[in-house]
Amino acid sequence: MKLIVFLLFASMFGPLHAASFGKGDPSEGKALHDKSCVACHDSSVYSRPDRKIKSASQLAARISGCNANTGANWFPSDEENVGAYLNHSFYHFK
Ligand code: HEC
Repeated sequence: MKLIVFLLFASMFGPLHAASFGKGDPSEGKALHDKSCVACHDSSVYSRPDRKIKSASQLAARISGCNANTGANWFPSDEENVGAYLNHSFYHFK
């Protein structure tokens, strides 16, 4: 029971914790990204001058939303890896 409650909370707050992307693996994230995320936009959307994402938590939220929208079925750890990849390669949030 305690485990279930913990997992519920972990999944609710996972994206917030992942906002630093510190534990993510960028190369793992690149592989996931290149498989599921380039159907609609290539990587230039992340570096365009008027890009929308302004913070690590916005990035985490967008990755979660896109994950849900595209049905990629990523685990929170996958989202963290993709966050690490995008942040490392494009956004450079602290
Ligand atoms: C069904 C089409 C589609 C797919 C598939 C898709 N995206 Fe997107 N994404 C968009 C569109 C459209 C925009 C631009 C929205 C805008 O201009 O506000 C966007 C924008 C973004 C941005 C914000 C770029 C910025 O302005 O800083 C991020 C981050 C992002 N996508 C991540 C992902 C990730 C991660 C995946 C893979 C799970 C993914 N996208 C898959 C359609 C898609």
